[in-house]
Amino acid sequence: MGWLISFSLVLFLSVSNEMTLTVASKGQHSYADALAKSILFFEGQRSGKLPASQRMTWRKDSALQDGHYMKVDLVGGYYDAGDNVKFNFPMAFSTTMLAWSVVAFGQSMGSQLQHAQEAIRWATDYFLKSTSTPDVVYAQVGNPYGDHDCWERPEDMDTLRTVYFVTKDHPGSEVAAETAAALAASSMVFASSDPSYSKSLLQRAKEVFRFADTYRGSYNDSIGGGACPFYCDFSGYMDELVWAAAWLYKASGNQEYWDYLANNIDKLESIYYAPTEFGWDSKHAGINVLMADVSPSRSNPSGIPMLHANADKFICSVLPESPTKNVRYSPGGLLYKAEATNMQCVTAISFLLLVYAQHLSASNNVVHCGEQVVADPNRLIAFAKSQVDYILGHNPLNMSYMVGYGNKFPQRIHHRGSSLPSVDKHPKHMGCKDGTPYILTSNPNPNVLVGAVVGGPAVDDTYADSRTLFRQSEPTTYINAPLVGLLAYFNSHSMTSRYYHPNFLMDANKMTE
Ligand SMILES: *[C@@H]1O[C@H](CO)[C@@H](O)[C@H](O)[C@H]1NC(C)=O
Ligand SMILES: *[C@@H]1O[C@H](CO)[C@@H](O)[C@H](O)[C@H]1NC(C)=O
Repeated sequence: MGWLISFSLVLFLSVSNEMTLTVASKGQHSYADALAKSILFFEGQRSGKLPASQRMTWRKDSALQDGHYMKVDLVGGYYDAGDNVKFNFPMAFSTTMLAWSVVAFGQSMGSQLQHAQEAIRWATDYFLKSTSTPDVVYAQVGNPYGDHDCWERPEDMDTLRTVYFVTKDHPGSEVAAETAAALAASSMVFASSDPSYSKSLLQRAKEVFRFADTYRGSYNDSIGGGACPFYCDFSGYMDELVWAAAWLYKASGNQEYWDYLANNIDKLESIYYAPTEFGWDSKHAGINVLMADVSPSRSNPSGIPMLHANADKFICSVLPESPTKNVRYSPGGLLYKAEATNMQCVTAISFLLLVYAQHLSASNNVVHCGEQVVADPNRLIAFAKSQVDYILGHNPLNMSYMVGYGNKFPQRIHHRGSSLPSVDKHPKHMGCKDGTPYILTSNPNPNVLVGAVVGGPAVDDTYADSRTLFRQSEPTTYINAPLVGLLAYFNSHSMTSRYYHPNFLMDANKMTE
């Protein structure tokens, strides 16, 4: 437990000049640096025509013909991870989480707020295109089999850019509803800085939600091999519909969305309830945490009685000291829930704990896990902080899992653009199989995808740093999106935080015992 105490001492020193500090030694983090990098990462994932303001300059224009053969403009948006497919379902979830990061913690972002808004707009401009035809939602661009068979820079891509879409007859409620959620959440981000853009996002969100709800079905069935097995919707589409309604209620205040939520949430909970699930597939825990501060109080549950109870259950399914915990922890203290891309669970779940801590604090509540364990807001914050600090290098390997942050970080990430020479260095076209030697080499990647957080270590805290072990070495947009909010919070809430009181250290120490 010694490191926690030394950490708090060095944090004290680093607050005044945190902009200039990077990780100098174990336990010393610059959240400001990490925050800036976590947002910069999204520039490396951009598809389409890059603007003059592009800061990650080794990336160039790509996929400028997307949608052209169908006579639709689908240029823009993000590649999801280390490949060159635009999967709208996880892209929309990443956007919803980026928007939630700004809605909840934007006031802590300082000069990074503008970059976070740009990152969101890069997605929402694309979603306005992908939803511009009434009763059609474009769901994906790029044949994943063709793409995965090649190791090519996005700038060279010559694989099939198949356009997948859902309609009244071939519905896809999860991809449509998540797109509606992303548009609604993003409308809140631009409410004051660009009210007319905000209004058009909200208007579109309402239309897309109506389409998603009226024509129900899974895009699994409608777009076939495009979705499965890549981003197959396992948890059904009811969670996305309720989640979209929750965001529409937040963004618009319209009673109809509250009623939708109230009428459908129990269906959702009884059929699909999975307390610890939160990610691009499953929105369950997110719905309860998102709505916790809007639902009437626990003592007067005239709104949605089970909402707080389910949010509490979620918290108790996560905390290491809880008798109902149903996640694992590595010996170094990392939450471990998935063999593949585990960091997506770490960041998404930690984000929810941080948001819920704010709700508990504002409503003067604590969470009871069984008879013995009481978790107050400080405990949830300390937990989230422990996970963020692990990512930034506070772990048995002393390794930062964020590329370009700290002294020791992943060098061989599973990412086509990062691992191949840039167009500046190698202007000649590189074809499908020309990239193979660059996957197999043990040399570091030539292009540093600054801010990318990888899938992360194995459950024993080991990390092979190998491109072919993509479950560990691949970054994704949905790992970073919630991390942006976490880093914003920890950047501005140091020892002077209203959450910081002497119990903090005790709570944090308890956690490591
Ligand atoms: C989507 O397909 C997967 C794999 O076949 C299946 O397990 C899942 O239930 C399907 N989801 C829906 C909503 O139909
Ligand atoms: C990590 O840092 C600590 C403290 O500086 C040191 O004792 C330990 O040996 C380091 N571990 C590795 C794997 O470098």
